[in-house]
Amino acid sequence: LRCLQISSFANSSWTRTDGSAWLGALQTHSWSNGSDIHFLRPWSQGTLSDHQWEQLQQVFWVYRRGFTREIQGFAKMLHLDYPFEVQVLAGCEVHPGSPLKSFFHSAFQGSDILNFQRTSWVPAPDAPHWAEVVSKELNKDQYVKDTVEWLLSDICPQLVTSLLEAGQQDLEKQVKPEAWLSSGPPPGPGRLLLVCHVSGFYPEPVWVRWMRGQQEQPGAQQGDVLPNADETWYLRVTLDVAAGEAAGLTCRVRHSSLGGQDIVLYWG
Ligand SMILES: *[C@@H]1O[C@H](CO)[C@@H](O)[C@H](O)[C@H]1NC(C)=O
Ligand SMILES: *[C@@H]1O[C@H](CO)[C@@H](O)[C@H](O)[C@H]1NC(C)=O
Repeated sequence: LRCLQISSFANSSWTRTDGSAWLGALQTHSWSNGSDIHFLRPWSQGTLSDHQWEQLQQVFWVYRRGFTREIQGFAKMLHLDYPFEVQVLAGCEVHPGSPLKSFFHSAFQGSDILNFQRTSWVPAPDAPHWAEVVSKELNKDQYVKDTVEWLLSDICPQLVTSLLEAGQQDLEKQVKPEAWLSSGPPPGPGRLLLVCHVSGFYPEPVWVRWMRGQQEQPGAQQGDVLPNADETWYLRVTLDVAAGEAAGLTCRVRHSSLGGQDIVLYWG
């Protein structure tokens, strides 16, 4: 579970904070400045009761107000120049049978500045010297440290377990890819760029190869797996071949949703 926060400070009086939460690759929550945390899924409340969720909303309100005030205080004390951006990445990683990994990283103007480790604040490696001043100051507040530790070590893993349970159907969904071929801009005289497109699949892991018979073609270029707007994925794999050698090549697609039946497309 990853919570992302972006806080913009335009000047000493104008600020806003927005955020989102992600369970693996799926966004589960969002919050925009001045509003409650919104559910993006029917299961975003996990198995928490309304009362438990209400309490969590309260904690986040207090956090957001406190965060803004603290940063404005530090900006004044350390004579930081406006405008600036502060980002936070916080959450936990839960693996069956291994210890919980939780994290809280913050960045100033895009560079790591301060982390929460175990029970206290520590400056990030290579942070400017004033990060030391900030961490010393923050470490004086035992209540906030206890709260952050509680959120990271107790609440976060509870939320993960509870979201996994409530969202099981959505999280385990399988969506079959569609695949098609096209030709790209010719890479040179007498050459062809074969493009195999694979789209609309979920989850993300997929195997796509250009083949001749059972032989994988070396030199194929695999793009990044890109998100579609409907929370499925897209991938393209290209192959640069001499025009005379394209016949008989196939694009083969393997994905968990296909139940062992690969998609095979023949060039030409
Ligand atoms: C602070 O920034 C906001 C947003 O850019 C701007 O509208 C406002 O006039 C600024 N206020 C001051 C006092 O500079
Ligand atoms: C963001 O929310 C805070 C707290 O509700 C408010 O004081 C501030 O004016 C808001 N900022 C903007 C840009 O709306």
